Amino acid sequence: MNKVVVGAQWGDEGKAKITDLLAQDADLIIRYQGGCNAGHTVVANNKTFKFHLIPSGILYKGKTCFIGAGTVILPEYFDEEAGGLIKEGIDLSGLKINPLASITMPYHTEIDGFSESKAKKGKIGTTQKGIGPTYTDKYARIGLKVEDLYDEETLSEKLDIILPIKNKTLKEVYGLKTYTKDEVLNLCKKYAEIFRPYVCFDWQKVLEDAKEARKNILFEGAQGVMLDVDYGTYPFVTSSNPIGGGACTGSGFGPKMIDEVIGVAKAYVTRVGEGPFVTELNDETGEKIREIGHEYGVTTGRPRRCGWFDAVTMRYAVLTGGLTSVAITKIDVFDKFKEIKLCTAYKDIRDGRIYKNYPTNVFMHKYLEPVYETHEGWCEDISGIREYEKLPQNARKYIKRLEQLLGVPVSIISVGPDREQTIFVNPQ
Ligand code: GDP
Ligand code: IMO
Ligand code: MG
Repeated sequence: MNKVVVGAQWGDEGKAKITDLLAQDADLIIRYQGGCNAGHTVVANNKTFKFHLIPSGILYKGKTCFIGAGTVILPEYFDEEAGGLIKEGIDLSGLKINPLASITMPYHTEIDGFSESKAKKGKIGTTQKGIGPTYTDKYARIGLKVEDLYDEETLSEKLDIILPIKNKTLKEVYGLKTYTKDEVLNLCKKYAEIFRPYVCFDWQKVLEDAKEARKNILFEGAQGVMLDVDYGTYPFVTSSNPIGGGACTGSGFGPKMIDEVIGVAKAYVTRVGEGPFVTELNDETGEKIREIGHEYGVTTGRPRRCGWFDAVTMRYAVLTGGLTSVAITKIDVFDKFKEIKLCTAYKDIRDGRIYKNYPTNVFMHKYLEPVYETHEGWCEDISGIREYEKLPQNARKYIKRLEQLLGVPVSIISVGPDREQTIFVNPQ
């Protein structure tokens, strides 16, 4: 069975925990988009591991873990992440980089930093890891790919095309430092060494063999559907496609290779950075969720904005993300809540219009208010429960209601950060 793990909200849903769990049965794990803007936490064997780009399946021996063609790699950050894992005693011999992955150059992070610091209006609140500018160059066809680093002659030719354009933009648009060809060539030499142990020029054969041998493939998404550049709360999004469809473009496997798409969602919603968030709670309840759920960013340390579960965006995520089932995480955060709210629709305060489907023009979201239904809490510690039937009745009621609203089954319930704190619903 080949599965995709997709974030179904605005990122940080607990995807890494679910990926780590599913990776046990996978032979090949492919991270298909994004870069080190991601912060993925896995808690296993009393240790906490934080990943940014390296697939969390790396914790298991004997698995092949690919950083896919759809990703962008900040070389120094990757080097630090790989070095940190090696220090922890993690074997990276299964780690491979697709040579088609894009490289984040220093000018990309500089542009990202500049754009964010100068933007008064229209700030995105990016992670400042150069993600947007790297994807911009990729789509403008002036980006560098990992494979470029290993052919000096063609790299030199490519830089003769790219650099004049980049330098003109850096100087005239941003007023930033320009780069000489020698400077960039030296950087590229350094990057070639950083990636050398991992670059898999033979990736087509590895993928073909996996397909032929019907190996279990796990596609690991970063960010979430609502941050997708096509379907998310544009322009307050990242610059890649976290949706299930992104697993194909970012991995090199076609759609028929996918059997299941598991959307990961918290029992509430969080968001980091700017952008609309209809169920956001700017009050004590939001604060309570943030403190109990430890809602602070893995990559930037920023406090996450918190709010009630939003079935409107989530139904939209089921559709556009191609979700076949849902993993609900962090439901234990509600253990001390007497009441839990669930947003089932939006109401336009201007004319009372009710939206059950997600309105995609985010600039009118300031006129929307959530329509809530209220559920009774369970007021007991559920973090030790491992079977669905043993969950308190009110927790099961809440899950059932989510299934009804979303139209897909809840296949996994996570009741704590640890690998073990998981309930598989109707396991086969
Ligand atoms: P990701 O980016 O989607 O992989 O998620 P993050 O790692 O950014 O954030 C999820 C946080 O929630 C991490 O600190 C996880 O250890 C933690 N976590 C995951 N699942 C659960 C859960 O079911 N309960 C609780 N309390 N914490 C969880
Ligand atoms: P994981 O994989 C949460 C958000 C940023 C910002 C917007 C654009 O851990 O779920 P970018 O640096 O990508 O250009 O920033 O996207 N963002 C994330 N939010 N989790 C993430 O990753 C995110 N990656 C980017 O906060 O609002
Ligand atoms: Mg995260």
